Amino acid sequence: MEHLLTGFELNQDGYVKLIELAQAMKADPKSYRRTLEGMSAALMFEKPSLRTRTTFELAMFNLGGHGVYLDLGKGDLGVRETVPDYARNLSRWVDCLVGRVFKQTTLEELAATGSVPVVNALSDLYHPAQVMADFMTIKEHLGHMDKVKVAYLGDGNNVANSLLVAGAILGAHVTCFCPLNCGPDVQIFTKAQAEAQKYGGSVQVTDDLSTLKDYDVLYTDTWVSMGDDTPLEQVKKRFLPYQINEQLVASSGAKIVMHCLPAHRGYEITDEVMDGPLSVVFDEAENRLHIHMALLATLLNPSAV
Ligand code: CP
Ligand code: NVA
Repeated sequence: MEHLLTGFELNQDGYVKLIELAQAMKADPKSYRRTLEGMSAALMFEKPSLRTRTTFELAMFNLGGHGVYLDLGKGDLGVRETVPDYARNLSRWVDCLVGRVFKQTTLEELAATGSVPVVNALSDLYHPAQVMADFMTIKEHLGHMDKVKVAYLGDGNNVANSLLVAGAILGAHVTCFCPLNCGPDVQIFTKAQAEAQKYGGSVQVTDDLSTLKDYDVLYTDTWVSMGDDTPLEQVKKRFLPYQINEQLVASSGAKIVMHCLPAHRGYEITDEVMDGPLSVVFDEAENRLHIHMALLATLLNPSAV
């Protein structure tokens, strides 16, 4: 793996090894304290972040390296200077570019014009590192990842797209339950479908909640993503049937409930479920740190892990 831009870069073996490494790092972090000694990463953020920023910065620190946070929230990237010039400058100083960007094409441009690995820390289309931590969490709670039945409910956004990609490659069964015309990206879905066929899993999209039965995992995310100014109240009526509440959890047969966070309590998930016995949302948040350590070590010093 040269970059992590979409999640399609890894095969099943790659995902499994990465998650196993993250579990080893979680169990014994001290053994990896010098894995990235003297190395650094630029953390380029065009959008806000709690989990992703904190855990990428700490991941570099925990491996003996350093993360430099660049606040690009004022629209500097591509305006103050071109995206390629950002990549060329930063590649002279750091060993990795971690980017949270509005447009997937920005990450592709950074990768094409820089000379160090680029990691997608969320774009309009993908959130690949998030779902790696999510499947690690599924493995911790359910003991396996292949054949796991995952129901994603709500907006077919970047997180939904990435769940389809990782789920397909891991041989899981992922169904997105989304209102009409709010489904995941069609091209990404088609590519994920081909991966699912290869690995014995499946991907589906439907708006029909009557088929939400016998799922192991329920997963949701915000109904309005960063960069979209639509008020939640405006979309509430359309999305409310897809809210994860106690009644929906009970009828689905789910064993665990997931959310990438930040949550909009009372919208896509209720307090009772988020704070209830099946919720693993803070395990997911914790695992962001371990998966980012595994990801950065694999990209920047593969011979050491
Ligand atoms: N889940 C996630 O990416 O959270 P942040 O937006 O806080 O980084
Ligand atoms: N879909 C959300 C994910 C936040 C982690 C967004 O893009 O805002």
